[in-house]
Parts: sequence; structure tokens; C-alpha cells
Amino acid sequence: MEQISPSSDAAARRILDRLWAPGRELLGCEVAILGGAMSWISERNLVSAISNAGGFGVLAGGSMPPDLLAAEITATQAMTDRPFGVNLITLHPELDALIDVCADLKVGHVVLAGGLPSSASIKRIKEFGAKVLCFSPALVLAKKLIRAGADGLIIEGAEAGGHIGPVTTGVLAQEILPQIDQVPVFVAGGIARGDALAAYLEMGAAGVQLGTRFVCASECIAHPDFKKAFIKASARDAVPTVQIDPQFPVIPVRALTNQGTRRFMEMQREVIDRYRAGEIDQKTAQLEIEHFWAGALRRAVIDGDVENGSLMAGQSVGMVTREQPTAEIIGELVDQAVAAIAARRHISG
Ligand SMILES: Cc1cc2nc3c(=O)[nH]c(=O)nc-3n(C[C@H](O)[C@H](O)[C@H](O)COP(=O)(O)O)c2cc1C
Repeated sequence: MEQISPSSDAAARRILDRLWAPGRELLGCEVAILGGAMSWISERNLVSAISNAGGFGVLAGGSMPPDLLAAEITATQAMTDRPFGVNLITLHPELDALIDVCADLKVGHVVLAGGLPSSASIKRIKEFGAKVLCFSPALVLAKKLIRAGADGLIIEGAEAGGHIGPVTTGVLAQEILPQIDQVPVFVAGGIARGDALAAYLEMGAAGVQLGTRFVCASECIAHPDFKKAFIKASARDAVPTVQIDPQFPVIPVRALTNQGTRRFMEMQREVIDRYRAGEIDQKTAQLEIEHFWAGALRRAVIDGDVENGSLMAGQSVGMVTREQPTAEIIGELVDQAVAAIAARRHISG
């Protein structure tokens, strides 16, 4: 890491604090770094560790029934008295009940993911006093979400791990950041170092969201073999799932290639052949394709089946080189951002 003198370090830290002040204010934390919700991974331990280290942890509540979500929120509240968020998936059949759980447990921030949220959901969350953050995949939707009451936006580029859109973080940032000043905007996807964090802040972001970089945090409960796969992988190993026939859409998910991703290609071919031979109808074929990955993330994260499970990971996985305490990861990101700001602004001691 570049050495900077104490006075230039202090000046750069002041600039950093000014740059992400709107993000810190909205989230109520020291450093505007969100630990993006990751199913099975972002549970009480990692979420509280991120918030306790000054960042903003987000619980992955998307696939939980209301009673499990309530238990996880309560457990997280017992492990940190700092703010954290709850991520809910808009397509969840019990979304309203999950929102009620957040209301009962006085959750301060809800992140709505997985499709465009309705104005009604946003309103329902704001009514109990929580802030709402929404993912915005395009400028026109960003404006729509702000009109619907979103308090903050997350823009996530295709470099990210998990379910992805088609546009890169760099392009989304250029399209959206200069046009939105009504609410804080957080940038996600492909960020693993403080230099990149500083660059997005300088472009107008209020903070950043990282997922992949936190998987190998010591506090993260992911199976040791899941973490090992991350430490071993390089950027080019994290690729989106491939759809082999436009008639049978596949939602792109970025993950490390393994036996499962190879088998998925073969399986699509087999199912589509059976459809073409008239053995199954289109709906059955589509369902078989969709069901292939059911439970696969859990198999990899919890059971450690890194060959057949889903190793969702972003391209930044190449910069994950060892297991580290969460506070050290956040400290490194901040120090790198400070050094980058000092260097770019030619602050001298
Ligand atoms: C293993 C894994 C699981 C994820 N699961 C979810 C999820 O359940 N809900 C969600 O909104 N985002 C999910 N994401 C996306 C992250 O919250 C975050 O936005 C993303 O990881 C940021 O990009 P990065 O991976 O390049 O850091 C997941 C990402 C990973 C790597």
C-alpha cells in the first residue's frame, strides 16, 4: 500500500467523509459500505460483524418465511446495537407478512430486491418509519422509484455475483450518477478495493455495496470449502449461466464454474431434445430447467458441496485472497480509498 504522510492522510480522510456523508446519514453508520445481502451467507453473524465494524450489514431475508425472518432479525439485534438492513425479495408470496415482521421488530432499513417493487410496498414500509432502498437497473426506473418514495437507490452492474442484469457497473454509474441527486445512490458490482470505492464516490455515489469480498470474512458462516473455492478462483472463473435456447429463458446468475454449471448445459440440451421429440410440453421443459438450481446455493454454502452446488460469486472474486476478519476488510477498503484520494488530488504532506 502507498505510504502517505499523516497530514495528507487526515486531509484525504476529511474528503472521504464529505464524499460519502449522504450515504452515512441515510444508513446511520460510520462508513457507507453496505454488505450486500447474500442468501444463506448474510445471516446474523456476518451482518452484525459488518455493522459492528462501522459498515452496514444487510440480512438476506428474501427466501425466509416470516417466523424465520423474525428469529433472524431478533438474533442480529442481540449481536449489534448498530443499524443494519433487511433485504426482501419483491416476488416473495408473503411479502406483506415479511414487511409486517420488519415493522414489529422496528427494522430501520429495508432493501427491496428481485424485480421492481410496487409503490404500495414502498409506502407500506415507509408508514412504519423505515427507510427504503431499491435496486435500479436503469435511469428511467431510478426516477420512477424516487417518485414512488425510495429513500436510496442501489445500482448493480453485471460484474456482481448472484442474479445479474446485462449492463456493467461502469456504464450504469455513468448513466445514472450524474442524473440523480434527489437521493443517495450506492454502487455495487465488481468492487473489491478502496480505490474503486473512492472513484465511484468521486463520480457522485453516496457509498458502495459489496458482496463477494465479504464471503471470506472470518465471521461468515459459509462452509470452509465454499471459502476455499473463492480464494482459489480468478475473475474469469465467475461467469453468468448460459442459456442455450431463446425459447427457454434462463435468468443469468454469475457463479464460479464447476461440475454443476457444466451439468446445467447438458441438462438444458437433454430437456430441449425431449421437448423437440414431443416427449414433454414446453411448460414442463421450462420448469425442469428452472428447478435445476433449486437449493443449489444452500448445498454449496452450508453443506460445502462445491462441485454440484451453486458458487455464486462476482468477478471481484479474484481479489479475495484469504480469510480475514470483517473489521480488517473494512479497514483495508477505507485505507485504500484514503490513499487513492490523497494520490489523485495530489495532497502532499
Ligand atoms: C453468493 C451470493 C448471494 C447473493 N444473494 C443475494 C440475495 O439473496 N439478494 C440480493 O439482493 N442480492 C444477492 N447477491 C448480490 C449481493 O447482495 C451484492 O449486491 C453483490 O454481491 C455485489 O457485487 P459483488 O459480488 O461484485 O461484490 C448475492 C451475491 C452473492 C455473491
